[in-house]
Amino acid sequence: MKDVEKKPLQESERFASEVPRRDLLGLAAFWSFIGTGVVMVAGALRLPMPSVFPETGSKFRIGKPDRYAVGSSTRISDRNVLVLRDGGGFRALSLVCTHLGCISQREESGAFVCPCHGSRFDATGKVVEGPAPSPLRYLEVSRMPSGDLVVDRDRPVPPDRRLAV
Ligand code: FES
Repeated sequence: MKDVEKKPLQESERFASEVPRRDLLGLAAFWSFIGTGVVMVAGALRLPMPSVFPETGSKFRIGKPDRYAVGSSTRISDRNVLVLRDGGGFRALSLVCTHLGCISQREESGAFVCPCHGSRFDATGKVVEGPAPSPLRYLEVSRMPSGDLVVDRDRPVPPDRRLAV
């Protein structure tokens, strides 16, 4: 019988590591550092890009004039606007609170209250109680060649300006 040399298991070639332990920890630290750097750079590059894209255009249609009765006030919920029609014509009152932009709610009395910090506005939009710094805004109403009414949220107008129809 051939005499086989007995070696301890740890010295066997089969269990010999290709990368010494110290080098392995160094490589792990190096690649962790590189990975962290890549994530940081990607985050920094993304910062200038907005997470929410603004609505395109500031104008929106609210339909034909005959949709609104004289003396009516109609809330356009998805636009946060109240369309007012009286004998003089059309006005559009923005329900966006002038404090930090929450949506004001109309009470039965006709006044408006902001649910966020409690600002109160009278039925014409004037501030009755802060912290809102200024009245609710009236927005320009115009008419398209098709006859549809259009509100422009970027064009505030004086409260008494109406679109006569
Ligand atoms: S957002 Fe309306 S009171 Fe603050």
